[in-house]
Order: sequence, then C-alpha cells, then structure tokens
Amino acid sequence: MSHLIAPSILSADFANIQRDVEMINKSEADWFHVDIMDGMFVPNISFGFPVIKAIKKHTTKPLDVHLMINDPDRYLQTFKEAGADVLTVHLEACNHLHRSIQAIKALGMKAGVAINPHTSANLLMDIIADVDLVCVMSVNPGFGGQKFIENTYHKIHTLHEMIRATKSKALIEIDGGVDMNNYKKLIDAGAKVLVAGNTVFSSSNPSQTISELKKG
Ligand code: DX5
Ligand code: ZN
Repeated sequence: MSHLIAPSILSADFANIQRDVEMINKSEADWFHVDIMDGMFVPNISFGFPVIKAIKKHTTKPLDVHLMINDPDRYLQTFKEAGADVLTVHLEACNHLHRSIQAIKALGMKAGVAINPHTSANLLMDIIADVDLVCVMSVNPGFGGQKFIENTYHKIHTLHEMIRATKSKALIEIDGGVDMNNYKKLIDAGAKVLVAGNTVFSSSNPSQTISELKKG
C-alpha cells in the first residue's frame, strides 16, 4: 500500500473553511485530519462538533479525527454522529484503552491510538493487534507548526517490528512537523499516513504541495 496524506485542518483558514475543504477534495489528499483539543489534555482548545459537522457536509474524503481530550469515552458516539471515520484516542488519556478501542470499533469507525513524544512505543505491545492506526506524535500535541522531534524515527522502527511480529494491520501515522525535508525519510522508515498542517496550508500552492508529499 502506498502512503496516505492527511492535511490537518487546524492550519486552514477558518474564515474560508469551505474553500479549504474544497481544495482538499480536489487534491490528491487521502484523508482529512481533524484535531480536537480540550484545553486540559493539551494547553490549547481547537473546535468541536459543529465545525466537524460543517466539514463533513462538504468533504468527499474520510475524516481522521484525533482526540487530544481527557477521558474520550464520554464522546465516542457523538464523534461518530458528527462524521468521524477514523477515531484516535491518546494512550495517556484513557484509563481503559482496550475498552475504548473496542467501543470505537463497535460504533463502526476505524480505531487509532496516539502516543506523545515521551511515551515508549513498547507500551503498545498488548494493544497493537486491536488497532487500525497508531499515531506517533512527532511534536508535543497542542499546536500546529512545531519542530519535528528526531527520536520519532526510532519509534517507527520499534512499531514496524512490533506490527510485523504480531501480524497487526495497524498503519503508522506521523503527526507533527512533517515537511518537505523529512517526508521521504519517514515513508522509507515505514510511515503509512503523513499528517501535514503548516507545510500544506502555509505553502503558496497547497494542492501542489499535497501532490509532492504524495509522490514520496
Ligand atoms: C498537533 C496536532 C497536529 C497538527 C500538525 O497537536 O495533532 O495534527 O495539526 O500540524 P503541523 O503539520 O503544522 O505540525
Ligand atoms: Zn493531530
């Protein structure tokens, strides 16, 4: 399978959200990455259900929803109703991660688990076979446009080995600081989904930037 590109709507122009959604629809992007922040799990608040529903109304691509919220079990069904296709929770935010993953799948969504930069990839050993996606945070979550953390490559190698050993179907997603200088190296290391916010939306031609990221 060739890699997927998921532009992060966090860096879009919210006063022109329909324009940016249509740009992504027409581009070679595969998914829409949607960042939900609660001001508790991360030191920022992004947006909530009305915005997701508005995006869902206009997009032709799957919504890859990344929950940076404490105790996400409270809202899994509401995210399904808002239009999430892939729903990712943080290992650090769940008391019963296995239960949360099963609940996401039972609602008919693909289930992802995200880990912060300080969290060892080895902690995923007993959940990797159950998830569809592992989101490796390559910045501390909370903001777009941050610098990529190099230790991410080490984590990709660990996860790649774990996925092989367990015959897991999980895709490795990299989130944060993906740019034109590191995306090829990330794909070569085994990344299957690249999230890109600032790199796409601050470029002079976002659609062309997506095509370049897609070439790999
Ligand atoms: C960070 C978010 C990312 C962010 C990525 O907390 O989870 O998805 O939008 O943005 P860039 O690509 O600008 O680092
Ligand atoms: Zn994200």
